[in-house]
Amino acid sequence: MRQPFIAGNWKMNKTVQEARELAEAIVAGVQALHDVEVALCPPFVALTAVKAVIADTPLKLGAQNMHDQEKGAFTGEISPIMLAGWVDYVIVGHSERRQHFGESDAFINRKVRAALRHSLRPILCIGETLEQNDRGETEAVLAQQLRLGLDGVSSTEAAHLVIAYEPVWAIGTGRPATPADAQQRCAFIRQELCARFGDVADAIRILYGGSVTPSNAPELLRQPDIDGALVGGASLVAQDFIAIVRAASQKQTA
Ligand code: PGA
Repeated sequence: MRQPFIAGNWKMNKTVQEARELAEAIVAGVQALHDVEVALCPPFVALTAVKAVIADTPLKLGAQNMHDQEKGAFTGEISPIMLAGWVDYVIVGHSERRQHFGESDAFINRKVRAALRHSLRPILCIGETLEQNDRGETEAVLAQQLRLGLDGVSSTEAAHLVIAYEPVWAIGTGRPATPADAQQRCAFIRQELCARFGDVADAIRILYGGSVTPSNAPELLRQPDIDGALVGGASLVAQDFIAIVRAASQKQTA
């Protein structure tokens, strides 16, 4: 059985002090819920503060990005060996990285493999743009991003992956995919993973991301192939994020 997983992607928000306070409020609301895995992904400079808050709780820590090289002349970058043993997860290939920072599938693939080499669990984000969706290309785009992003990943390593299906048009727009469409896409992703990795695919968690809120989370999370959510905007408001984690907990007990 796949344990539901809710990850909060705080993006470029919160000072260190604000991050500490947000993490404290979230811990207070979710630490009694043992059937959902929860990860907080604050900006790099707040990782230490948030790690201190979640110590002695089951909450996990995630980074929002990393470089694929271990060290070197890459001004402003953070390497896998800096994160290894420090965070549990790393978001890779978020559409904002692809869009605003020109990250290619090849670079994203190097990051995925570097993460796995260093025992960091990648949350690989994939998703189509509005234009691609309008042209009916969604499945082809998802298949390609999976194929290129996971090139060279073994079935054994695949067990450590998390995939986030995030339609680009749904991110930060207040216009989420319908539960039925999100389910269909996530089922397609699982089918692709199954073709590639066999039975291991049943254990890989597939999250939905894009305008998840406390009101739409229960229906989205009820879908059989949606194992959790990658939450942006709503993860910055403790009560909203807690409500989404509760919805995931109810999926588990339903
Ligand atoms: P959103 O962002 O929840 O604000 O739409 C999701 C994401 O980018 O991961």
